[in-house]
Amino acid sequence: MNQEDARNKIIFALDLNDLSEIDRYAGMLSGSVGMFKVGKELFTSCGPQAVKAVQNHGGQVFLDLKYHDIPNTVANAMLSAARLGVQLVNLHALGGGEMMESAANAVQKEFGNSERPKLLAVTILTSSTEATLRQIGIEYSVQEMVVRLARLAKESGMDGVVASPLEIELIRKACGPDFLIVTPGVRPSFAAADDQKRIMTPVEAVKAGADYLVIGRPIARAADPAKASQLIAGEIMAGCI
Ligand code: C5P
Repeated sequence: MNQEDARNKIIFALDLNDLSEIDRYAGMLSGSVGMFKVGKELFTSCGPQAVKAVQNHGGQVFLDLKYHDIPNTVANAMLSAARLGVQLVNLHALGGGEMMESAANAVQKEFGNSERPKLLAVTILTSSTEATLRQIGIEYSVQEMVVRLARLAKESGMDGVVASPLEIELIRKACGPDFLIVTPGVRPSFAAADDQKRIMTPVEAVKAGADYLVIGRPIARAADPAKASQLIAGEIMAGCI
């Protein structure tokens, strides 16, 4: 793996809510990370302008809005996201097969063979425990649910999932080599764990089968964020020869 392939695996989480900060980070990092994650906080504060701010610096965008609604509404939201020109967008697999299929079909119908965003599903949030599942009437274990929902996502036309590093291998085995796996909870060897508990290093996550790593604070809080990103890409490259 070369430096560019390693860099392209890094998605920087823009956990901010101020447009000028986005501009600053996008300017600073567009050459040293592969993509920028725009989530609910930022999108609710700044809207599509947040996406445009990143794109103005030549950056690619993962729009992390985790849609979960009736099929028609999710399909239309996905289409709106796709029209913003983002590269990744997601929904909750718990919304079911019909919801995922209608989103996939709507995007496919409009984009045909032209470049479209990859559609990802969130299986079970990593903040959920067995107790959370019991509370909502689910009797399976978290791992069983993750694999079940990843398979359903694949059958329903999704291109991949967002998953904890600890679930990568199970999903890779269940869904095959071409199914995208995006994982947060990654900590480079030089960084603090912060509040992340079930972590892996970037090299461990890539070796386990992750296609993209979502990384926030280890980059944002570094004295030199661009250098921190380059160090992470260097770690990945050196560890995955
Ligand atoms: O700063 P840090 O690297 O922990 O940021 C990780 C990003 O990934 C944050 O935007 C966080 O909300 C997100 N995330 C996560 N764990 C999950 C799902 C998303 O840390 N299970």
